[in-house]
Amino acid sequence: MEELIKKIQQDAEKKISEIKDIKELQELKVKILGKKSELSEALKNLKDLSQEERPKIGALVNTARTKLEEKITEMEEKFARKNLEEKLEKEAIDITLPSKKIRRGSEHPLNRVIEEIEDLFTSMGYDVVEGPELETDEFCFERLNLPEGHPARDMQDSFYITDKYLLRTQTSAVQARTMVANEEKSPIRIITLGKTYRREDDATHSHQFNQIEGLVIDRKETKISLADLKGTLEVFMRKMLGDKTELRFRPSYFPFTEPSYEVDVTCFKCGGKGCSLCKQTGWIEVLGSGMVHPNVLKMNGYDPDKYAGFAFGTGIDRLAMFKYGITDMRYLYTNDIKFLKQFDRMDK
Ligand code: DAH
Repeated sequence: MEELIKKIQQDAEKKISEIKDIKELQELKVKILGKKSELSEALKNLKDLSQEERPKIGALVNTARTKLEEKITEMEEKFARKNLEEKLEKEAIDITLPSKKIRRGSEHPLNRVIEEIEDLFTSMGYDVVEGPELETDEFCFERLNLPEGHPARDMQDSFYITDKYLLRTQTSAVQARTMVANEEKSPIRIITLGKTYRREDDATHSHQFNQIEGLVIDRKETKISLADLKGTLEVFMRKMLGDKTELRFRPSYFPFTEPSYEVDVTCFKCGGKGCSLCKQTGWIEVLGSGMVHPNVLKMNGYDPDKYAGFAFGTGIDRLAMFKYGITDMRYLYTNDIKFLKQFDRMDK
């Protein structure tokens, strides 16, 4: 009996070690350890054995069983490992292979400038507000102290849609809109940026262009003055055109400000010495500005005895041209990929 069990074990071990795949192994497992296996039969026959032999053979059968179970588990693990390795190999991704190049667009120079201006002014506590591009004559002109027939309207020869509606010629319209919306309830500190339209088209003008406008209004006790306007515009221009930029304020006329100033900056090309860009003057005109006209305050719901403020406006396209050395404004609007690509790697 002992011999028989040893033989069964040896045969089974041999068969296990010769197995080629997991399926065969499962079948063999049933044959070796199942109810109808030789080992199970041997256990059944224990009852025919003598009293002394029974425990001995019983123990032998159990050891053989455990040994075989271990062997089978070992094989199962081996197959599982092999299976996983094969899978990993088959599904491996070669990360050293260069990927397909994704063509990336680049930020439009105008958007770069717009973002830079927004970042600067929001960092100084300004809100960024928006206004409609299709504007009424009332907000674009009348409420800014430019009544019908005012000669200053001629400079903004405009795209009228009806008698009442036009494509706004200046973002100054948003000044009036903001004052009306605030109803004298709070001080105002805003910038607004966006498209404006005029009947012009040459190397330095486009029928559609972009402006930025700033408006600050506060109670008279705060003593808001031209000094605040000057300081603000210095920070603005130096951020856009470089730390060395100097500003010059020239008295001028705008219907919505009193006093009004045009602001020049030192030519960023020659540094103020005089060159073809600044027509040998050393200065380039960039901004319109002034203290908000009392009529404008009054017409839009702010009492000029209690409130005062300053305003400024300029073309973003011109700023972008200065900043990046662009010679023709129309490049900004013709979607020439070769032109726009140049701004890919430019530092913000
Ligand atoms: N709106 C003026 C223009 O388009 C620019 C301007 C001048 C805006 C003076 C202002 C200002 O806010 O105070 O020419």
